[in-house]
Amino acid sequence: MAAALDLLLIGWLLQSALCGQFEVTVPQTIEVLRGSCVTIPCSFDVENKYESNLDNTCKALWKNDQDTVVFNSSAPQQTTIKGAFTGNLTKKDCTTTLNNMQPEHSKKYFLRVQCNNVLRHNFPDQKLEISVKDGPPRPTLTPSTLKVKEGTSVNVTCSAPAPCLSHPPTLTWTPSLGDIHETLQENQDKTKFKTSVLTFTASHLRHRQEISCTAVYNKQDGSTESSVTTRLTADILFAPQILPSSDCTKSAGQFNCSCESVGKPSPTLQWYLDGFPVNNSDKFAISNETVNETSLRSFIIVSDPQGRGVPTLLCHSSNSLGSATQRFYVYILQPYDLVTLAVFITIVVILLVVVCALLLVIRAQKTRHYLLKSTLAVNQHVTSGEGIEGPKATEEDIYVNTVEPWFLK
Ligand SMILES: *[C@@H]1O[C@H](CO)[C@@H](O)[C@H](O)[C@H]1NC(C)=O
Ligand SMILES: *[C@@H]1O[C@H](CO)[C@@H](O)[C@H](O)[C@H]1NC(C)=O
Ligand SMILES: *[C@@H]1O[C@H](CO)[C@@H](O)[C@H](O)[C@H]1NC(C)=O
Repeated sequence: MAAALDLLLIGWLLQSALCGQFEVTVPQTIEVLRGSCVTIPCSFDVENKYESNLDNTCKALWKNDQDTVVFNSSAPQQTTIKGAFTGNLTKKDCTTTLNNMQPEHSKKYFLRVQCNNVLRHNFPDQKLEISVKDGPPRPTLTPSTLKVKEGTSVNVTCSAPAPCLSHPPTLTWTPSLGDIHETLQENQDKTKFKTSVLTFTASHLRHRQEISCTAVYNKQDGSTESSVTTRLTADILFAPQILPSSDCTKSAGQFNCSCESVGKPSPTLQWYLDGFPVNNSDKFAISNETVNETSLRSFIIVSDPQGRGVPTLLCHSSNSLGSATQRFYVYILQPYDLVTLAVFITIVVILLVVVCALLLVIRAQKTRHYLLKSTLAVNQHVTSGEGIEGPKATEEDIYVNTVEPWFLK
């Protein structure tokens, strides 16, 4: 039974493909911007016996549903709607461009092929509805929502119809996050649309950032341009990061430590003291607060730390994408430690004083030596005769310089 149906279907398909029939292929509807043009993709077929009648005398006429001719390919500038015939009837291509469309042109239209022979045919079964709009269509963004992990490469596609091929829309991205690749593509009904693909790497810095695509349509008269924008907010998932503002302060024998983490999905926070998780209790006052959708802050008051020394305080934050840990050093000095510290400081100070005193003595000795030497030299020079001539003086200088001070003899 099913096989028989299949055969029937195949037979019917073959018949419509091979044996010519009167039929036309046009889009069902096209939206056009007021004052702009529209290119109607169009193809048709005729019964086999009329095939030879398709010649240069044929013209394409477009009629509205009141059967009035609005476009004539033989006189494209003299009809109700002016335009250009860009098809080729001998090749069964009836593609037509209609210019400067106005709201009153919002109607249903059908094709007529008329030749100077027996071939004269209306194609009323397949009508095209043209809808002239005041504003351009909104571009579409794919995907319409963006929820991605940090670090992944993201493609967002913006597409906007391009009904007027001579004036395709220009697409712009705000902000221009990455590489942009533009193409003109065709729908199934052969109408065209422009696409722009934006490729960028998801970063948590872009979280909640709005990405928009704007389509600008220049109208045929050149006077006005029309633009429309579609927006999308990037929802970027990222592993927690502990913010550098996380810190400890000491007041009245307490340590007040804060830990703030950002992440998406919203992270959790857990405190660890000496390797053990701690929760709100008599010993530890812990309070958590949600800063915003991605950020969580927690405070811990460590009032009575167990044991002496340096307990390790950890803040651990995690979400489904990862985790982060920050270590806080909480120095707790016991009274015993304070005494030790005082003794240590005293010893260091005494040592420093002794070293300084020694240095001073050595320095004093050196200064005395130098002064004695200079005084001796000056005395010798003055008593060595009147006419101070270069070589002589030098000789004497050398002599003087070799005189040893009294205390070295
Ligand atoms: C189409 O235009 C041609 C050339 O002006 C004219 O001869 C013809 O009559 C027109 N056809 C129709 C149906 O208006
Ligand atoms: C801990 O410090 C934060 C600010 O860093 C403050 O808002 C909070 O009141 C403090 N808590 C205590 C108990 O001191
Ligand atoms: C949330 O708070 C964090 C830290 O205060 C900040 O960096 C981030 O921008 C905030 N996010 C939003 C969406 O407000």
